[in-house]
Amino acid sequence: MAKNNANTKQKMNPRERAKLIKERMEKIKHKVVVMSGKGGVGKTTVAVNLAIKLAAMGRTVGILDVDITGPNVPLMLNMEGKRPTVDAEKGEFRPVIGPMNLRVMSMAFLLQDNETPVIWRGPMKMSAIRQFLSEAQWGELDYMVFDLPPGTSDETLDILQLIEGAGVVVVTTPQDVALLDSRKTVNMTKTMKREMLGILENMSGFTVKCPECGHEHKIEIFGYGGGEKAAEKLQVPFLGRVPFEVDVRTGGDSGMPFIIEHPESASGKAFDSVVNKIIDKMEK
Ligand SMILES: Nc1ncnc2c1ncn2[C@@H]1O[C@H](COP(=O)(O)OP(=O)(O)OP(=O)(O)O)[C@@H](O)[C@H]1O
Ligand SMILES: [Mg+2]
Repeated sequence: MAKNNANTKQKMNPRERAKLIKERMEKIKHKVVVMSGKGGVGKTTVAVNLAIKLAAMGRTVGILDVDITGPNVPLMLNMEGKRPTVDAEKGEFRPVIGPMNLRVMSMAFLLQDNETPVIWRGPMKMSAIRQFLSEAQWGELDYMVFDLPPGTSDETLDILQLIEGAGVVVVTTPQDVALLDSRKTVNMTKTMKREMLGILENMSGFTVKCPECGHEHKIEIFGYGGGEKAAEKLQVPFLGRVPFEVDVRTGGDSGMPFIIEHPESASGKAFDSVVNKIIDKMEK
């Protein structure tokens, strides 16, 4: 019986699978997709801290790591080495339970170790994403956060297509090229008729305290204001800027999200305001 069920799910045709994904996603009230034009701008950091903050505010939350070849969500949540459990009866699996009761799924949970590269091409990656969406028992959730790979790849297109009613957060760094990088992502969101929640400018300025005079000096490593300029030009909302802070980076490396560990830091306060804007838009 169990085997039959598992086999039935594996052999499901694309239409049946799409129907199952739709049914599962209908049980989730709000879906937030985090994307960016280029890599390394802080998508995973934003996705993980957003999910954790929403859970800390009493919402039930899931997070899906859509980055199949570079899955970093488990590392940033201190969940490396965990495995999803299988519900053999139904031929499904349960997402891994993380801090604050987050339901988490990532390709990293299926790899033998974190040094094994995933060298899959587009169609295989999309098939894994569809399996995560259709075969995982997400249950009823208030929010699901999707951490996407950089750019406007097939996986990005697939997620935007599959997730009806999704709201999109575009993460960017503040350089002048941010406008260029954000344009494609914003246009893709508009073409797919998904709601643009806004642009978040990350790594925006770095403040150092002089050990001698005690003065705070602001260093604009990646520039300042590019995200806001981009939002203005592209006529989409601006969610705010999160500064470059060592606590954010160490929080990511150690799996202790900065929004919980350092809520009073400049980045903690800035991110708090971003989360409130997202909640206002999603729960209006
Ligand atoms: N505001 C910030 N201050 C300091 N470090 C940051 C900040 N935001 C992100 N980082 C660090 O920058 C690095 C890249 O961040 P992250 O992995 O979130 O980017 P990404 O956009 O998801 O990358 P990729 O495109 O590879 O998926 C990480 O080490 C992270 O801890
Ligand atoms: Mg990432």
